[in-house]
Amino acid sequence: ASASLFKVAETGEGGLEAVQELLEAGADPGHADREGVTCLMHAASRGDLEVMQALLQAGAPWHDLDCEGNSAGEYASGMGHTGAVQLLLEWAVQAELILGALERSRKRRSAGGEQEGVGGAGERVEEGIEAASRDKPIDFETASNADYLASKVEYSQDTLVDAEGEAVMMEWERPLMERHAAMLCAAGGDVMNVGFGMGIVDGCIASHAPRSHTIVEAHPGVLARMRAEGWYDRPGVRVVEGRWQDVLRQLDSYDGIFFDTYGEDGEDLREFHRHLPALLKPKGIYSFFNGLCPDNMFFNVVQGEIIKRELHTMDIETSYEPIKMNPLPESIWKGIKHRYWHLPAYMLPRCVKQ
Ligand SMILES: C[S@@+](CC[C@H](N)C(=O)[O-])C[C@H]1O[C@@H](n2cnc3c(N)ncnc32)[C@H](O)[C@@H]1O
Repeated sequence: ASASLFKVAETGEGGLEAVQELLEAGADPGHADREGVTCLMHAASRGDLEVMQALLQAGAPWHDLDCEGNSAGEYASGMGHTGAVQLLLEWAVQAELILGALERSRKRRSAGGEQEGVGGAGERVEEGIEAASRDKPIDFETASNADYLASKVEYSQDTLVDAEGEAVMMEWERPLMERHAAMLCAAGGDVMNVGFGMGIVDGCIASHAPRSHTIVEAHPGVLARMRAEGWYDRPGVRVVEGRWQDVLRQLDSYDGIFFDTYGEDGEDLREFHRHLPALLKPKGIYSFFNGLCPDNMFFNVVQGEIIKRELHTMDIETSYEPIKMNPLPESIWKGIKHRYWHLPAYMLPRCVKQ
């Protein structure tokens, strides 16, 4: 039945009725061929919303990838089926919002020392969803912030690397940092950047001469660099030493805020966002380095949409400006442990407090 379902999804022959019959007969909605192409990818590339809906409802994962790293989202957008892209996006966002909430509640309960296996029906539902999403792809960097902050960093002309040889910051990001800085400084005013790195965005912010310029940085090696480069003595610049989590009380409110740390994950970003209503002045603009899911464009868009909805609940409205990215030359990754950018576009976030 699974092979027949695959054929129907590919050709559309028999339509929704055939799909439903085959699913009832036990066909696997997530069936894939040897190249990793799934029923959902075929339905998406034909823009067949009804069949896509039936497959998703039957449990077809929205995030499966073919051998080349494409998801159903890429199949739909590659064929210009905007309705199919929207359907997948909405499905993915809802699924990830629910999974994220469940994951947080599970962590809270295990941190509170609650015993496992006594949670009743709610817990069983949660386990079922977790089992269904075992290889959930949407995840952020997992390196520990504490380990990073306790280890050495090394600067060269074009990179800042950590003790593992992972890139913390690279010069190729400069044009993006220029765009972020111009957006944040548009209204002049008071601007804060969290995470100095190579000082690229701070150099750009300084070139716009804002009323005040606050920099939050936690790494001793980076702080030493800032001291050597004279950042502590620049007029209008205030350096706040420490992890942003630990120095919140020393901060004011700002017209522009940029966030770009390292060794932190999606939960840290969410945590920072919880403080934005207090940190942003009315009409203040916030932006962050959008390296969310840097291996897959559709996942990046899904994650961006989740953040947009979360910020909306705080009266902060987000839009993304797509910036086309030319492929980066292989040579720039020489000596770097992992390549951290693969996407054809950078979705520049602009989040405005209402
Ligand atoms: C990717 S770099 C920032 C690059 C910067 N945007 C630029 O233009 O060069 C990240 C920086 O965040 C700092 N950092 C990491 N965790 C931090 C935290 N919890 N609080 C403050 N700074 C942190 C790192 O030490 C590093 O300097």
